[in-house]
Amino acid sequence: MSVRRLADESIQPASFAFTKENAAWAKKRIAMYPEGRQQSAVIPLLMRAQEQDGWVSRATIETVADMLDMPYIRVLEVATFYTQFQLQPVGSRAHIQVCGTTPCMLRGAEDIRAVCQKHIHPDPHHLNEDGTLSWEEVECAGACVNAPMVTIGFDTYEDLTPNRFEEILIAFRDGKGDTIPTGPQNGRRFSAPLDGQTTLIDVSEPVEPSPTTTAPADVPTPPATRPGRKRKIEDEAAPAVRSPAPQEAEVSEAEVEAEKARISGRTRRRPDQAMREGATGAESPAIEKTGSKTGEKVKTTSRKPVSPETKE
Ligand code: FES
Repeated sequence: MSVRRLADESIQPASFAFTKENAAWAKKRIAMYPEGRQQSAVIPLLMRAQEQDGWVSRATIETVADMLDMPYIRVLEVATFYTQFQLQPVGSRAHIQVCGTTPCMLRGAEDIRAVCQKHIHPDPHHLNEDGTLSWEEVECAGACVNAPMVTIGFDTYEDLTPNRFEEILIAFRDGKGDTIPTGPQNGRRFSAPLDGQTTLIDVSEPVEPSPTTTAPADVPTPPATRPGRKRKIEDEAAPAVRSPAPQEAEVSEAEVEAEKARISGRTRRRPDQAMREGATGAESPAIEKTGSKTGEKVKTTSRKPVSPETKE
């Protein structure tokens, strides 16, 4: 679990100000929220400030709080809650967030972390020698099915091996991060199986491609029909597909109409206030309700815990 604290006072800047362009953007963004809800812009503003300076300082938090008329503590709570906000200076070319939650840990996150320790710094939140890289461990980034993974900026790099991650790290250090494709690094498409389709492959009828959709060039098109057994679905083999046998009507039409009228009357009725009066939650004394067809009061008793002795 990450410890989220503001950076040491010795490196905190005395002040923060948005650039002219970012200030105009922030003004527009704040105006997008309904009157009285301007504080909802706190996350976008903090993120824009971070994009501008690379991290969120105490001065940034106070400036954003002033802009949104919020107590400083409220903005501090937001900035320290989300690991997307960096609370100290980070590498100028990449800050690597290694997912260390269970699925990634089981799939080798410790080896990925070891690469960071070797190439950047043994401890998180420290810059490498030339100030280009930094790293930290974070909780699940939501790409567990492609574990282990890291987040760099707004992108994720998944299905990592230590060797492949080392290549990625060096590319970022050398300013070539944009040459690395994002997403899975083992050749699979998103989280599709590496060795081809494994479900919905037993089709009996040819599937006509839709005239309005075309598969992307890099996606292998499955054959319209696959060699394999073709099954004829028999009633005996698949009773669930049988139509129900026609049945004799057991109620008269008049009875059906009467039931419909009864139901529609019930749905239009206001909530039963009698049940709500004096309700206090678990201890609610709601022991009476008008619920019978005839309208007379029906008594029900509150359920009491049954002791083991009583049970016996
Ligand atoms: S556990 Fe690593 S992305 Fe979810």
